[in-house]
Amino acid sequence: MNIGLLHGPNLNLLGTRQPSLYGRATLAEIDEEARRLGRDLGVDVESFQSNREGDLIDWIHDRGPTVSGFVVNAAAYTHTSIALLDALVGVGRPFVEVHLTNLHTRSRFRRRSLLAEHALGVIMGFGAGSYELGLRALVAHVRGTEAGAVESKKGRG
Ligand code: DQA
Repeated sequence: MNIGLLHGPNLNLLGTRQPSLYGRATLAEIDEEARRLGRDLGVDVESFQSNREGDLIDWIHDRGPTVSGFVVNAAAYTHTSIALLDALVGVGRPFVEVHLTNLHTRSRFRRRSLLAEHALGVIMGFGAGSYELGLRALVAHVRGTEAGAVESKKGRG
C-alpha cells in the first residue's frame, strides 16, 4: 500500500519557523519518522512539499492513481484553496487532514478549513505527533479496521 504525505507552504521552514508554536522537528525529520512508521505498518510513504498551490495539485493528480490515500497538512491553503480541495476530491482517494497546532486556539481565520468536510477526519494540536496519528488512522481506515468508520459517515450532512 502506498500513502502520499503532502505538506503545504512554509512547512519547509519547520525547525526554525516559530518553534514555540510549531516545534523543533524539521520537515526532513517528520518525513523520516513517517517513512519509519510506514515500514512498521507495512506501507510505503512518499512525501512532497511545495510552496506553490499548482505544484501540490499536480502531485495529487500524479499520485492519486497509485496511492490508497493521503495525509495532508495543507498549511495556509487549508483556509483558502478550493482548488486543492477539488484535486483531493477529484482523485477519489480518502485523506486525513493534519495540523501541528490546534487551530481552534488560534486566529479566527484559521478555524475554517475548506478541506475538513471531505476529510476522513482531522487531527490537530499534537505537533509532529499529528502526522503519526493521521497516518495510523488512514492506514486503519483503508484496511477497514477503523472502528466507527461507517458511523462517522452516517453523521454527515
Ligand atoms: C498549520 C496551521 C495553518 O494555519 C498554518 O498556515 C500553517 C501550519 C499547522 O500545521 O498548524 O502553516 O497547518
